[in-house]
Amino acid sequence: DEMGFTVAIDGPAAAGKGTVSKAVAAHFGFAHLDTGLLYRAVGRKVIEGADRLAAAKALLAEDLEAEGLRTPEVAQAASQVAVDPEVRAALVDFQRAFAARAGGAVLDGRDIGTVICPEAQVKLFVTASPEVRAERRYLELAATGHEVTREEVLADVIARDERDSERATAPLRPAEDAVVIDTSDLSIDDAVAAAIAAIEARRG
Ligand code: CDP
Ligand code: CDP
Repeated sequence: DEMGFTVAIDGPAAAGKGTVSKAVAAHFGFAHLDTGLLYRAVGRKVIEGADRLAAAKALLAEDLEAEGLRTPEVAQAASQVAVDPEVRAALVDFQRAFAARAGGAVLDGRDIGTVICPEAQVKLFVTASPEVRAERRYLELAATGHEVTREEVLADVIARDERDSERATAPLRPAEDAVVIDTSDLSIDDAVAAAIAAIEARRG
């Protein structure tokens, strides 16, 4: 059965991790956790004046459904709190318990294959060029009524990539055994098909 079957999906901002994760979860009947929401929820509470470690320790499942987590401001705040090893440590147990749930799980983030679930049966690293990622995120934000420019979105994506890649604790990088999927020239359907094929290959 699928007991404890874990798919770890990591990659930089707006690479298509969430889109691929949702499709894979629906295809295989796995549960999905977007771990970026944990850091976004903490970042949002910090913007509202909370202490970051207190916010991380007190995080509730319902905080992940709060409004306004998808804004660029909250994304920046998320990447700032995500540098703190104590904040990261406070969020580990929740993620590991989710990964171990019966029926299989897909988790997407930055450190799932390297730190949270190093034993995951399948590890994918979903990436794309910064320009392609910024354009996708720009179109998404513009379509949801955010007043941002392409230049602002590209600068946000590059700043977060740098902070995420250069931090000392759990930096963004592919696990040694990750399958890399570069979606720069892939449609959503092709990216999802590549992910499903990689998972099928490991499932036997
Ligand atoms: O989760 P992550 O930030 O990595 O990215 P996402 O939210 O899944 O995707 C960012 C945007 O890119 C969404 O609007 C997707 O529809 C789009 N996308 C795309 O155009 N082509 C792909 N192959 C994957 C995603
Ligand atoms: O959707 P997008 O890829 O733009 O961002 P996200 O996945 O929601 O993550 C927001 C921020 O949270 C990232 O820039 C990281 O700094 C942090 N994060 C992390 O450090 N570790 C994770 N497993 C997930 C997110």
